[in-house]
Amino acid sequence: MSGPNTEYDPVEVTPLRADEVEAMRDAALAAIAAAADLEELKQARLDHAGDRSPLALANREIGALPPQARKEAGARVGQARGAVNKALGERTGVLEAEHEERMLVEETVDVTLPTSRRAPGTRHPITTLSERIADVFVAMGWEVAEGPQVEAEWLNFDALNLGADHPARTMQDTFWLEPAVAALVLRTHTSPVQARTMLTRTPPIYVVCPGRVYRTDEIDATHSPVFHQVEGLVIDKGITMAHLKGSLDHFAAAMFGEGISTRFRPSYFPFTEPSAEVDLVCFVCRNGDASDPADCRTCRGEGWIEWGGCGVVNPRVLVACGVDPDVYTGFAFGMGIDRTLMFRHNVEDLRDVFEGDVRFAAAFGVEI
Ligand code: PHE
Repeated sequence: MSGPNTEYDPVEVTPLRADEVEAMRDAALAAIAAAADLEELKQARLDHAGDRSPLALANREIGALPPQARKEAGARVGQARGAVNKALGERTGVLEAEHEERMLVEETVDVTLPTSRRAPGTRHPITTLSERIADVFVAMGWEVAEGPQVEAEWLNFDALNLGADHPARTMQDTFWLEPAVAALVLRTHTSPVQARTMLTRTPPIYVVCPGRVYRTDEIDATHSPVFHQVEGLVIDKGITMAHLKGSLDHFAAAMFGEGISTRFRPSYFPFTEPSAEVDLVCFVCRNGDASDPADCRTCRGEGWIEWGGCGVVNPRVLVACGVDPDVYTGFAFGMGIDRTLMFRHNVEDLRDVFEGDVRFAAAFGVEI
């Protein structure tokens, strides 16, 4: 058995010799000083302060020394490692500051440069007006009803008392879909939603239905093969023409301002009896309240402007849609949303409404 190695001279252990330790430290300090950026410093840290760096290996040798030699060697290596760590810390601080400064310069954004971003679009004024109209009625407790634009002939016509040979069928020039046996049309008005609503709900019914409709009209300043209507339908006990008049006066005032009321002119629709055309007090001359109608270009001296159709729901329609006409009565109306938009905003040509030029929509501002 061998005794303790008292003869051991640490100076003989090469990695722990003072000049060797100094050389390791100096190499480390030089590498740290030479690191030009944080990436290079990371490598220097690995090479000179990592687990496999010469100084770490030297540190491990200390344990193998006899006790009396450990202290001196430990102090030497410890000092060297301390100096390396201090240098690493300082260099890290310097390089991080440099990095930050460079980022500030390199990532500067010139907010004055022109951008290639397109201006945001806006919602179409027909959409926002349709929602606003619905809101007027929802505020009175009505519901919004919807129906398809491709509609069954029966719902668009027959259910509404417009039989196949009814002369009024030709009042609305219809787009028919092929094949003819499918008996489908592009709905010519929003009135089929009346029929759909009565067939699926039980009275009392209070619904409003804004939507797109189609007729074979040529495009001009006041006509378009696609346009928009808003239908109203009320079915309840004891409903009269007076309720219709009150609802439409409220609607007119909500659209055109206080004091703009409506008048009814006798008319004919197969689905209402009696029926009426609805006129608005001209919102420019106010039928003499604001200026002489004789000079008014908006109503052309009339004092009134045509707005839509309405009436008391024909009992034949109630029967066709499963509502007992001995218990219930109701009213219905249909107004042009495009006309309403044109009146409200002084749009003179309907084509502007449908052409899709964003400048037209943008002029109405952004409405959410
Ligand atoms: N549907 C009719 C039209 O488009 C308007 C209307 C609706 C008339 C409801 C009376 C009642 O001409």
